Amino acid sequence: MGDWHKTNWRAKPRVQMPDYTDAAALSATETQLSKYPPLVFAGEARRLKAQLGEAAKGNAFLLQGGDCAESFEQFSADGIRDTFKVMLQMAMVLTYGAKVPVIKLGRMAGQFAKPRSAPTEQVDGVELPSYRGDIINDLAFTSESRIPDPRRMLQAYTQAAATLNLLRAFSTGGYADVHQVHSWTLGFTEGRKAERYREMANRITDTLDFMKAAGVNQDTAHTLQSVDFYTSHEGLLLEYEEALTRLDSTSGNWLAGSGHMLWIGDRTRQPDGAHVEFLRGVLNPIGLKCGPSMTSEDLKLLLAKLNPNNEAGRLTLISRFGAGKVSEHLPRLIKTVKEVGANVVWVCDPMHGNTVKSSSGYKTRPFESVLSEVREFFAVHASENTVPGGVHFEMTGQDVTECTGGVHAVTDENLQDRYHTACDPRLNASQSLELAFLVAEELTNLRNSRLKQAVG
Ligand code: PEP
Ligand code: CO
Repeated sequence: MGDWHKTNWRAKPRVQMPDYTDAAALSATETQLSKYPPLVFAGEARRLKAQLGEAAKGNAFLLQGGDCAESFEQFSADGIRDTFKVMLQMAMVLTYGAKVPVIKLGRMAGQFAKPRSAPTEQVDGVELPSYRGDIINDLAFTSESRIPDPRRMLQAYTQAAATLNLLRAFSTGGYADVHQVHSWTLGFTEGRKAERYREMANRITDTLDFMKAAGVNQDTAHTLQSVDFYTSHEGLLLEYEEALTRLDSTSGNWLAGSGHMLWIGDRTRQPDGAHVEFLRGVLNPIGLKCGPSMTSEDLKLLLAKLNPNNEAGRLTLISRFGAGKVSEHLPRLIKTVKEVGANVVWVCDPMHGNTVKSSSGYKTRPFESVLSEVREFFAVHASENTVPGGVHFEMTGQDVTECTGGVHAVTDENLQDRYHTACDPRLNASQSLELAFLVAEELTNLRNSRLKQAVG
């Protein structure tokens, strides 16, 4: 891209980024980071892009999930393992339901910087700058903690490298055993829903038994034991992103080396802003969050800027409108995309439009609203004859109580029990799995009704 350079974003208006006061520390950090190895490689980013190109056509399905904000304090091998494991379990349920490969993409190994709805926050009459993620400042409510410190970028890099190292090891280590499918549904004890899940688990077990009996197991053991697992985060802190951006010598293109996919948040997608300027020039697949305020005019500009060659798999549109609002907003975005003939992957984020304050004072998300938004997303794509290409969740493998509802019926009063998120409320392991079963059902229904249409 001839007119692009990794530093050009600096001349554009920026939002949601810190004003570092210690210029010397900032520049020393940038110099140091720019000497560190990239965390991901161009070939991997290209492979993910190719797989996303398949998702756009309905030949694959994207499962993107992980923390709202990764945390320095809660960093642990067990935490990474458990999230990885739940994602593999969800992927297995989806692979079975959709009969298509599932692309596994963590919000991991770099998801540290957060856009905030307000620049300051008030507690008991004291007003301080908002927490902006561990890569920028500290969550503790003191004025010292909230000063943005550029050196935190080095710790974020180290944690991302260690996380990725473990993920790479798990990915080839046969970690999540598909033969455990029945134990995943043990928590679902009652009701019609539990019955449906158990039925699906039975069918998966049947298939595995059949494969074993037919001797398929030996040959496919490798496929069942190793996975491609990719990483992603919001490309928000552009000093960090720029320092890790490298020229790919084989293609002559620029790679954002901090993660396989980067996305642009709903608050930083100004067509003439710094974030769009930076991300338009890197070769990685990129995501664009689309909330209710996304206009057709802006979307047109963004499609042209972010994917000028209409490359397959380059651009994923992650819609996040809120339950009850999908049919109001998604059809007009689909219409715009159809009008310009843009190649995009349509993905549903049922989290960010469904955040509410509970009666107990916690920020939460009712699981029913999360499920509703997913259903509405599928319904719109069914009627528009377009392809639902994936889902994007905030989730964790830990047994947290941050979103209300689900099979274990977390209530407003339960939220205080295990509310650990550094930012937005996440689905816990059982809610995540329950959601995967729902998505699998939606995919199966859509598939069946389209097959019927094609035959009839
Ligand atoms: C997020 O994904 O954590 C986020 C802030 O999303 P959005 O930009 O859609 O609000
Ligand atoms: Co979030």
